[in-house]
Amino acid sequence: MIKFKNVSKVYSNDLIAVDNISFEVKKGETLVLLGTSGCGKTTTMRMINKLTNSSSGQIFIDNVDIENINPIELRRKTGYAIQYIGLFNHMTVFENIAIVPKLLKWSKDRIKKRVDELLNLFGFDPEEYKNRFPLELSGGQKQRIGVLRALAADPPIVLMDEPFGALDPITREQVQNEFLELESDIKKTVVFVTHDVFEAVKMADRIALMDGGKILQIATPKELVKNPKNELVKQFLGYHKFQLSLMTTNIFEFFNKNKPSKKINYSDQKNKLTLRHSIIDALDLFKETKKSNIAIFDKKTFLGFLHRKDLLNFISNLLKEKV
Ligand SMILES: Nc1ncnc2c1ncn2[C@@H]1O[C@H](COP(=O)(O)OP(=O)(O)OP(=O)(O)O)[C@@H](O)[C@H]1O
Ligand SMILES: [Mg+2]
Repeated sequence: MIKFKNVSKVYSNDLIAVDNISFEVKKGETLVLLGTSGCGKTTTMRMINKLTNSSSGQIFIDNVDIENINPIELRRKTGYAIQYIGLFNHMTVFENIAIVPKLLKWSKDRIKKRVDELLNLFGFDPEEYKNRFPLELSGGQKQRIGVLRALAADPPIVLMDEPFGALDPITREQVQNEFLELESDIKKTVVFVTHDVFEAVKMADRIALMDGGKILQIATPKELVKNPKNELVKQFLGYHKFQLSLMTTNIFEFFNKNKPSKKINYSDQKNKLTLRHSIIDALDLFKETKKSNIAIFDKKTFLGFLHRKDLLNFISNLLKEKV
């Protein structure tokens, strides 16, 4: 879907911001570009929609060199959401979300329908919110609208540059979860920039860890945590290794072994997780609900209960492995 081949970016001050990187993002995959400030994440991302031009190498979307894709077509293919939202304060929520569809000359009816549909995706009542201005929204709401704007023309690719970076930890977690849930339905190809290793592990199918304009390692979160390729990668993961290994073990790996054969109806919306959730999520929910079992779903299908004692046994075995 997206392919970088020996791509570099040298800014006019001779600074090599991106240094000969090659990687691919598969269709429907979420690739997280992770690394410390100044390592070249934003530059890498902005080369995909040509907001920044590469100095050498080639970038392909669906095997077409982006040099041969015109700007309108590129806008149709890529949505873009950034930190500090980037909403236009003089435009209403409706006008902000409608920017790209208007550019693509969609009919008024089609735009109206699409904006309503998008607002509903994040639980906004269209009638209540579409005529508000960004200054009449909370930070979390603005950020959600920023994400909806990126999705407006239903682009196959969504580029997100620290989209939740400016939010407080609680709102951030909520928006991350809402986006993950949305993503599992709409299955876009996502390139997501962050410097936060926990956010990376949570959001990514694969992580590209960058340093000094190069990619140090590109791997699934689990692989990165389990087998860091070199000292630099290890340093980046720092003291969080055990926590990260719990975060990168999802319920799928654990629950499969205890999968019950019977399905039952389940209505307690607060006490449930999906197979994609991690052991940490399960621990959190056990603590919060004080229940001894949690309902597990595969997307929307109820699979059965995860029992607290089984989870604790599993973690205790993991701890033994580490010693
Ligand atoms: N327009 C520019 N002109 C000159 N140098 C630039 C320009 N934009 C970025 N740089 C430099 O390129 C390097 C990479 O910047 P980039 O914005 O890609 O980093 P980043 O990984 O996104 O960092 P952050 O996490 O702080 O956003 C930095 O050293 C930065 O100073
Ligand atoms: Mg950046």
